[in-house]
Amino acid sequence: MKLKRILKWTGATILLALILSIFAGFIAYWRSTNECDRKTSVPSNPMKAIRYCEYGSPEVVKLEDVEKPVPTDNQVLIKVRAASLNALDAYMIRDAWLNRLIFGLRKPRDTRLGRDVAGVVEAVGKNPAAAGQFKPGDEVFGICRGALAEYAVTFERALVMKPANVTFEQAASIPLAGLTALQGLRNGNIQAGQKVLINGATGGVGTFAVQIAKSLGAEVTAVCSTRNVDLVRSIGADHVIDYTKEDFTKSDQRYDVIFDNVANHSFSERRRVLTTKGICVLAGMGGAGVKEGQALGRIAGNLFIARGLSSFTNQKFAQYITKMSKPDLILLGELIQAGKLRPVIERTYKLNDAPEALRQLDAGHARGKLVITIGEESR
Ligand SMILES: NC(=O)c1ccc[n+]([C@@H]2O[C@H](COP(=O)([O-])OP(=O)(O)OC[C@H]3O[C@@H](n4cnc5c(N)ncnc54)[C@H](OP(=O)(O)O)[C@@H]3O)[C@@H](O)[C@H]2O)c1
Repeated sequence: MKLKRILKWTGATILLALILSIFAGFIAYWRSTNECDRKTSVPSNPMKAIRYCEYGSPEVVKLEDVEKPVPTDNQVLIKVRAASLNALDAYMIRDAWLNRLIFGLRKPRDTRLGRDVAGVVEAVGKNPAAAGQFKPGDEVFGICRGALAEYAVTFERALVMKPANVTFEQAASIPLAGLTALQGLRNGNIQAGQKVLINGATGGVGTFAVQIAKSLGAEVTAVCSTRNVDLVRSIGADHVIDYTKEDFTKSDQRYDVIFDNVANHSFSERRRVLTTKGICVLAGMGGAGVKEGQALGRIAGNLFIARGLSSFTNQKFAQYITKMSKPDLILLGELIQAGKLRPVIERTYKLNDAPEALRQLDAGHARGKLVITIGEESR
């Protein structure tokens, strides 16, 4: 009798908790909005910026008048001269449940787009320590939120000085892709003379990875499609595998390091072509063109299988999240200044053509970087 009552109460409590959670979820969903909904009047100090008010395809991206940002005490205001696109920008727009959980249930909370920025310091916040070395007029590059705009704000720790003979377009192409290539190759612990394979060698990250691996003295094999064979050779690849004709995991060649931007082969296939103590660096899951379902499968594999395998075998699968690092960004700028690294820029677009650039990126076959230039002509 007592047991029956306990079961009855437990059932009722679970049911109540379920109803309350559904109700709370419903409220959270309808409350999650963005400033596009709150827009009532014209901005008092307007600037042009790219925004996405809804999730969807690149069609949702619009050039609009928005309020010019004001730096907080600890921020730097940049007059943007160039910005570049990353696979992340294409992923963020998509109507995917993971995006809704991270960026806003009903609509994206933050409607700004673009992380990689290069421009001129317009103003610094009131806190002189936080502004660091920067003063108005300095030419800088780094990482921010909302680079696809006439002005953007960011923190001193995310900016470095632009070398004088590096263009704004080149500088804007460096941050996320360059840091991802550099930090990933470091995880691979590359030694001169080692055999390194770069899978996905012709996108933003891959074109930097091929050149950095070469500069470290590696013998580089690049994997790309037919139309990009000449491109990867021109940036220094020693060998090229055209993935439309040949599967690199089926060859007899062994690699000390695989830098994998695509993750389109199983762990056992990749282990087959790694040396006995080889390292596979898991950089990405297929660039801007990867479909949501594929991406989720690859992320889950990286999270669960990679760690397990690395604990039980001498072959390692290394995953990492790219970190903003001033010394790394300075190093990349210096390599470009010295002519040892050449950013591959497929095309530059004006700010009002940013939706077209995003469509091109989303198609999944960008050759190097797509750069947006920003100036008076974008008005
Ligand atoms: N770990 C991190 O913290 C971090 C940070 C930044 C980026 N990432 C990831 O790094 C990856 C690469 O980014 P990205 O900016 O370079 O992307 P991207 O510019 O969109 O490049 C995609 C490239 O992948 C190539 N590709 C597509 N299918 C391929 C296949 N089956 N085999 C070989 N190559 C293939 C394409 O070359 P073709 O045109 O020749 O097919 C294209 O050049 C993304 O998944 C991104 O999310 C990770």
